[in-house]
Amino acid sequence: MTMTWKKSTWRTKPRVQMPDYPDQQALQDVESQLSAYPPLVFAGEVRQLQRELAKVCRGEAFLLQGGDCAESFAEFSADTIRDTLRVLLQMAIVLTFSAKRPVVKIGRIAGQFAKPRSAPHEIQNGVELPIYRGDIINGIAFDDAARTPDPDRMLQGYTQSAATLNLLRAFSQGGYADIHRLHSWTLGFTEADEAKRYRDFASRVTDSLDFMDAAGVNADRISRLRRVDFYTSHEALLLNYEEALCRIDSTSGKPVAGSGHMLWIGDRTRQVDGAHVEFCRGVQNPIGIKCGPSISTDELCRLLDRINPANEEGRVVLISRFGAGKIGDHLPALINAVRRHGAKVAWCCDPMHGNTVKSSNGYKTRRFARVLSEVKEYFAVHAAEGSYPGGVHFEMTGKDVTECTGGVSAVSDADLRDRYHTFCDPRLNASQALELAFLVCEELSQLHLPISRRVAIA
Ligand code: PEP
Ligand code: CO
Repeated sequence: MTMTWKKSTWRTKPRVQMPDYPDQQALQDVESQLSAYPPLVFAGEVRQLQRELAKVCRGEAFLLQGGDCAESFAEFSADTIRDTLRVLLQMAIVLTFSAKRPVVKIGRIAGQFAKPRSAPHEIQNGVELPIYRGDIINGIAFDDAARTPDPDRMLQGYTQSAATLNLLRAFSQGGYADIHRLHSWTLGFTEADEAKRYRDFASRVTDSLDFMDAAGVNADRISRLRRVDFYTSHEALLLNYEEALCRIDSTSGKPVAGSGHMLWIGDRTRQVDGAHVEFCRGVQNPIGIKCGPSISTDELCRLLDRINPANEEGRVVLISRFGAGKIGDHLPALINAVRRHGAKVAWCCDPMHGNTVKSSNGYKTRRFARVLSEVKEYFAVHAAEGSYPGGVHFEMTGKDVTECTGGVSAVSDADLRDRYHTFCDPRLNASQALELAFLVCEELSQLHLPISRRVAIA
């Protein structure tokens, strides 16, 4: 028997990966402050995202989800946000133009602060301290004060998310994202080969637009291309924060998470009877479920029943993250189990989290070739199983960092120390992200699925 859901029922369930706050009174004070604040996203937007994801589910659209592994308070700036958005828009336009179908754009942004960790403690020079769990929980500095979970950080996370969303809304609706400006998105971009490839591509798109403008084709639709719909997402890990921002949708009367448009449940917190699944099953936002090598078909079906009992299209995105060379051992069984179960899902590939390795000089990194290989295997498995490879999910940044090796810019192990800025996992830099988008296009253009007749970029 599943008990009646309330935004607080997760508190009665076993929880993992959550901090122990030493000052409970301070925690409650922050929770009640946040509960009185405006939500960051609104129910109408969440419902619109579900409709977009329903198209992914039906094979009519493609999902692009990407952003930082962990946002940080220190790296918060308008330039960082603009650069991430710019690369995501560039990737999306490449995908839309080549795959001839709409691309649903979701950032790992405006709330992606809390991190699951493989160990609760960290030892440096014989000193043991609690592990860093993301800026919304504790600080990365290796000292006792920084590592103690501090609830006030939730207020800072909220404020940063609100300011980030404000800028994203301005950029996506206020002219920056106008497709007619796609040439100017290259300004400030590195002179790498990818930038040149992108510029050539942009010229082709601009020529097509000029032709349509001149011919008076679809003038109303073309004016639609001056704006984009951009959504936010993060891992729903810190449930105190999620509960405090949960609101009731005045239209449907249903609860909605006000912290971001889409939430996902991490590979370490997807226990069917655990706290994270309990929270997520009750909010109407689209929910991602990370599927790593330890998930069984039985568990997945039970999760789907729990999260999406009404089997709504666009409610669930299954994000596979097995690692190159392993996806073929796991994904076919999951696809078939989901099909037998009759569950409606959108499939998405995260080729990052199964491919983390240590470099020869001690950095946590990912090899571009392995990332690409998992993406290719993902497309091949879906082709063999006759299912739709609905999207991709990347850890990436708009900056010219050196965190993942390889790609046309040929970052080597020795280069990693130059600009290794991540607060958690290694991200693709702007050039690597764009290169991957072009390579995903090659895979997508081989799909013989009905091409969406919509011209829209939204
Ligand atoms: C993540 O997406 O940052 C993450 C920790 O992923 P996973 O839960 O798949 O390991
Ligand atoms: Co990560």
